[in-house]
Amino acid sequence: MKKNIVIINGDGIGPEVTAQAVRVLQAIAEKFNHEWHFTECLMGAIAIDKTGDPLPDATIEACLNSDGILFGAIGDPKYDNNPSATVRPEQGLLKLRKALQLFANVRPVTTYPSLHYLSPLKEKQLQNVDFVIYRELTGGIYFGKKELNEEKTQAIDECIYTTNEIERIAHIAFKAAEQRRKKLTLVDKANVLETSRLWRKVVQDVAKNYPEVEVNYLFVDNAAMQIILNPSQFDVILTENMFGDILSDEASVLSGSLGLLPSASFGLSIALFEPIHGSYPQAAGKDIANPLGAILSAAMMLDYFDLPNEAAIIRAGVSWTLNNKFVTKDIDPINFYFTSTIGELICDFIASNNNFEDINHKNIELRKSTII
Ligand code: IPM
Ligand code: MG
Repeated sequence: MKKNIVIINGDGIGPEVTAQAVRVLQAIAEKFNHEWHFTECLMGAIAIDKTGDPLPDATIEACLNSDGILFGAIGDPKYDNNPSATVRPEQGLLKLRKALQLFANVRPVTTYPSLHYLSPLKEKQLQNVDFVIYRELTGGIYFGKKELNEEKTQAIDECIYTTNEIERIAHIAFKAAEQRRKKLTLVDKANVLETSRLWRKVVQDVAKNYPEVEVNYLFVDNAAMQIILNPSQFDVILTENMFGDILSDEASVLSGSLGLLPSASFGLSIALFEPIHGSYPQAAGKDIANPLGAILSAAMMLDYFDLPNEAAIIRAGVSWTLNNKFVTKDIDPINFYFTSTIGELICDFIASNNNFEDINHKNIELRKSTII
């Protein structure tokens, strides 16, 4: 198979984690005889530094002509701490989502038994946790009218949703629920917000097409509590843009590290894959960030290319590193391996035909970091 893949490294740890995902994709190409053509593009703070624009037109153009986009992370503290900055890195990502119509953001939450101890939750709450958040990505308060009055004493962020915007993601989420445990939970704030009441009405109508799927409705405040109290009750969570942003960071706590979670964003014809973590500027350039969220995002891209065996071997490689304690500093601050070593190990795993015996454990030990 031949594919054109756009690589957007972005900011902070973005380039380091994306480099490992690219390396893993190359190992897959070699093993399965595929041909990936990579094009690097700019977005975020790095794009502002180089061109003055967080999303240069050339990036949109390349993305529109690609088969898939792999993205690292966005954000820089020099903008976070300056609320009056008019050009911000995040504008690049929001504009790209809108330009490519990436309206459905899919964030699977998986837990690994070998990492249960890392979660602040008790072991019994973590058992059988396996759900996926379908977050609407191009509407709501993120994209409504924004206003600041002249005196700078009043600000407005408008939240708008149309039935069409709700329907199109609802259908995707219901289809996913049909393939999973057939349970869908709509998270909203219908006791307060008009947009949430529209979500409920539209989802009730869409549900009629999927009689096998059991539908539940939860207010977002209660959902935030339930994700911690009883996360195994969820299968597919469907929600609007901002609630999905907040709940997906909360849910990452279940897996033990934010660095582990991948995501995919689908539109009408184009898809983008990115780890859910941010740019983690404190770790940038140190080769200590966790590349697994990025590597698992590459696996989601291979699923999207309809290459399930290739995606499965990446996931097996990730589980193999975790089970053998070949982990980065976020997971084990004392006995940790470098970002690049984890990428290399997963490539070795792929090349070894899933045969652990070929991988020399002594060599791996030597690559353990000695910096504490
Ligand atoms: C995410 C991020 C983004 C969002 C930021 C970087 C704009 O937090 O993808 O979850 O809020 O959507
Ligand atoms: Mg977020």
